[in-house]
Amino acid sequence: MNIIPKPTNTKKSAGDFIINEKTFLVVDSKNFRLFEIAKYFKEYIKAPTGFELNVVDKNGYRNESYVELNIDENNVSLGSEGYLFSVTAKVINITAFAPAGIFYGIQTLLQLLPVQIFSNKVRSDITWSLQCVEIKDVPKYSWRGMHLDVCRHFYSKNFIKRYIDLLAMHKMNVFHWHLTEDQGWRIEIKKYPKLTEVGAWRVDRSGITWNERSTQQSGEVAGYGGYYTQKDVKDIIDYAAERYVTVIPEIELPGHALAALAAYPEYSCTGGPFHVATGGYWPITDVYCPGNENTFSFLEDILTEVMNLFPGKYIHIGGDEVHKSNWEKCPKCQKRMVAEGLNGEKELQSYFIKRIEKFILAKGKKLIGWDEILEGGLAPEATVMSWRGIQGGVEAAKQKHDVIMTPTDHCYFDYYQGHLIEEPEAFSESYLPIEKVYDFDPTPTELSKEESKHILGGQGNVWTEYMPTSEQVEYMSLPRMSALAEAVWSSNDERNFSEFRKRMETHCLRLDEMNINYRKLDK
Ligand code: ACM
Ligand code: ZN
Repeated sequence: MNIIPKPTNTKKSAGDFIINEKTFLVVDSKNFRLFEIAKYFKEYIKAPTGFELNVVDKNGYRNESYVELNIDENNVSLGSEGYLFSVTAKVINITAFAPAGIFYGIQTLLQLLPVQIFSNKVRSDITWSLQCVEIKDVPKYSWRGMHLDVCRHFYSKNFIKRYIDLLAMHKMNVFHWHLTEDQGWRIEIKKYPKLTEVGAWRVDRSGITWNERSTQQSGEVAGYGGYYTQKDVKDIIDYAAERYVTVIPEIELPGHALAALAAYPEYSCTGGPFHVATGGYWPITDVYCPGNENTFSFLEDILTEVMNLFPGKYIHIGGDEVHKSNWEKCPKCQKRMVAEGLNGEKELQSYFIKRIEKFILAKGKKLIGWDEILEGGLAPEATVMSWRGIQGGVEAAKQKHDVIMTPTDHCYFDYYQGHLIEEPEAFSESYLPIEKVYDFDPTPTELSKEESKHILGGQGNVWTEYMPTSEQVEYMSLPRMSALAEAVWSSNDERNFSEFRKRMETHCLRLDEMNINYRKLDK
């Protein structure tokens, strides 16, 4: 069995089930979610098999050979995402406590079929059989995420859907969508149209090394970029929801905001003018001014539109890498620090985040920030995304805050995955091979059992300075995403790299069928 991520328990038995055009899909049709999942499976296999399977109600007529999807509200041990999967020669039964588990059972079913099931062309030469088996499968972590930076380079709505399909295939459930940056603002905000009219576009310096690009000169046209309309965003959220993926928007503040400030310089300390960065921008000195009340109204208006669009409970507000030199010089910022009794600019950053958190909480949502939000004191209910190693996450968990682990040394997929001279240009000279991703354990040993409960899970981050095309995103994301998926789904005693590596060979054939431009496994 070459299922990735590896299920908790698997027991094979003799015999096979064959899916043909007469196989029925049996559901409780009053359960809308189950009905939707049955339709998803039906659509998924239509292209390669050419079959139009019948979806029928469990109380109606059924053929002797069928796939049945069942919710069992008494089987609490499966949790909200686990499932039971049973195959005999006549019946495939998928049972779960909740619909997400059924969806993951369907992903397992797809992986048990011949790899051509992942093709979008009719494959009439294939017998669609799978081996009889009993599986019980429950994920280890509830946060199994992949991030994508669509600001350093912009990708089409269709590619975002393809990326979400890859998450779903790996039973991952969070898409962290990094939507705003120094190099581009990518989400339509109705109240502030210049965010996309100005902020979504930069001068094209493709072909020049990222960190050596000069800023926009007068007379130059900013024509490189793009953005998602609110309609696009809704479409993507719906698409993800059908695949049990929650989309978490990231709206960066106080820094990584040069594109927004190019459009609305009045919310900076100096007043500008600014241009959307054409490449590397470092140190990040031009950031929002927390001395100006209007900065908060501006950000709250933006966050209100964002929170109305995204149904998930979390909003990511960034918080990373703010260089505070302008705050030190800004009379408004200094006045704010005196008025609020803040001791140093780190506390001013903490004031900024706490104030934004208060606003987000009042709207019934929760704030996530990068681990820099620890500096100057954490906002009372903030969830911390630990990226500069695990230490920020350890500290936050000890303070009884929830944590998502994304340390650079195991989770940064912008790093090289092979020898520098053999690989396309990537971030710095950093190296993260698939073996190391596979070894990732989001829970640090130094945490007590009680503290460990705050570790929600892990996530792979895809920063795209060196990924000008979606093909390059695929190359950097896979197969490392497969290794991460197993690190956050399967329990540690199930995991063994050389055994995973063998399963990965079959998994690569699936990616071939999907025309994914993944990096080949090392021999
Ligand atoms: C980050 O990589 N700056 C969160
Ligand atoms: Zn200021």
